[in-house]
Amino acid sequence: MKTNKNIAAVFAAVLMLSACSAVQNGDETDTIPVLEDNIPAGGGVIITSEAIEVIEEITEASTSETIASESSKPAETWANTDEEPLEIPQRTESETEESYPEGEITYIELTYYNVTLETGDSSMPIVTMYPEDAPDKSEIWSSSDESVAEVDDIGNITAISEGECIIKVQSAVTPEVFAEVYVTVISPEEEESEAETEAFSENESETQLTFIDGILIANKSYPLPADYNPGVNADAQAAFDRMQSAAAEEGLNIYISSGFRSYDYQAGLYERYVERSGKAEADRYSARPGYSEHQTGLAFDLNSIDITFADTDEYEWVKEHCAEYGFIIRYPEGKESVTGYMYEPWHIRYLGTDIAKSVSDSGLTLEEYLGIDSKYAE
Ligand code: DAL
Ligand code: ZN
Repeated sequence: MKTNKNIAAVFAAVLMLSACSAVQNGDETDTIPVLEDNIPAGGGVIITSEAIEVIEEITEASTSETIASESSKPAETWANTDEEPLEIPQRTESETEESYPEGEITYIELTYYNVTLETGDSSMPIVTMYPEDAPDKSEIWSSSDESVAEVDDIGNITAISEGECIIKVQSAVTPEVFAEVYVTVISPEEEESEAETEAFSENESETQLTFIDGILIANKSYPLPADYNPGVNADAQAAFDRMQSAAAEEGLNIYISSGFRSYDYQAGLYERYVERSGKAEADRYSARPGYSEHQTGLAFDLNSIDITFADTDEYEWVKEHCAEYGFIIRYPEGKESVTGYMYEPWHIRYLGTDIAKSVSDSGLTLEEYLGIDSKYAE
């Protein structure tokens, strides 16, 4: 199975390269791999250009071998079993179809190699035997576990009880040539709950970004799609850099303690807070995954993320000047019923200078300024 080895080598290369950098991140002091904040919501890895070069080298080196090592069974079906793959008759470079004795079957192809059936259901893969002009294409069908699924003489598979088994078809004239179907039998209820999960995921992916008066909103009423993963906003970062320099000229040190947070990262953070304080209390200071402004890449937590920041010269300066750089203090004191969150002197939100000045001059929270709610639906 050279194909599998090559895939494994590619992933090993990606993981090796991915593990090379780590950053300090988040509300916590966790040291996490840089990938953590950039993992797409559905899972996966960011492949760096270095990794791509390695992948290309491996793939190039392997292409010719892969063609010569095809068997009657696709490589990916091995991923479905913990067991060692069965020995499959392999065609070597010298054993072309022409070199088989006349009349023998050289290869069996199926229309599918994996199937999930409800108990009582039946399914029949279509078989093609090669060479196509072989005089005898008789099939022998068998099941590795007839208590899970049975198969008749023409390949009709019937699901009997929950479990997994392998249905095998061999050539009668060349029994060492065969193909297999991995069968999973589930109960009808299980399928129903899978359908519910799918419907839930679809709903989730239907979440859209909400812009009100051109402002991207993320609060308890307006979630973000789980796969919205923009990273830190470049304009917000540049504005912060300018603000930091201006503060430094006055001998003040402001720095970002937590910037962009992915959906997955927020999910972990929120879960830890719920464990620590309980859900109701956690909801007062931490956004649920999909609801955090940090996922927009437009919000930053500054310096020490606790109430003592409010007593520092840095905070006084930020409060006075942040609108000049396009930021507002997003969760002011005494506005929990409006913003949905307790006072967070450290959390600033980038809006651009015009809107930030306008919101700041109004003395309103962003919710009040736009006339919107911040409340979870449930
Ligand atoms: N602490 C803010 C509300 C957040 O979790 O996004
Ligand atoms: Zn924050």
